[in-house]
Amino acid sequence: MSKAQTVPTTAVDPTVAAAAAQFLSPVVLGLEALTVNGKQAHWHVRGANFVGVHELLDTIVAHAGDFADTAAERIVALGLPIDSRIGTVAEKAGATAVPAGFAQSDELVRAIISDIDAIIADVKAAVDGLDAVDLTSQDVAIEIQRGLEKDRWFLVSHIAA
Ligand SMILES: [Fe+2]
Repeated sequence: MSKAQTVPTTAVDPTVAAAAAQFLSPVVLGLEALTVNGKQAHWHVRGANFVGVHELLDTIVAHAGDFADTAAERIVALGLPIDSRIGTVAEKAGATAVPAGFAQSDELVRAIISDIDAIIADVKAAVDGLDAVDLTSQDVAIEIQRGLEKDRWFLVSHIAA
């Protein structure tokens, strides 16, 4: 009778998985918060270039959801869980600059840029921290940084001189 073969949960060293989770988890939580706060801004924008900003905010929310999925699934692919329940996101992701209620488009654009900048700081920490640990996880962070910086450019272009 043959014994069932044990399949490891992950192909990487546990310390590599732990480091990837350490650096990518804050990124996931920040991006999940952006999906919620970006919708808040999308619904309440008023004033100059309403349609353009309203639609751009939806695009940014969609990107944030995709980036969060990529980072979260990298952690899970390495065999570790991520706690991205809404209460955990609210506790750990930090406060948004998006106000409650209606606001002018330039104010909301600045608020979302501020939220994105906070995420980019965590993403850069992940790029630096994962450099000597796991290049595949670092690649995930680099891809997210590239995407967020592009979305930031689209936002800044609405308010830059
Ligand atoms: Fe909508």
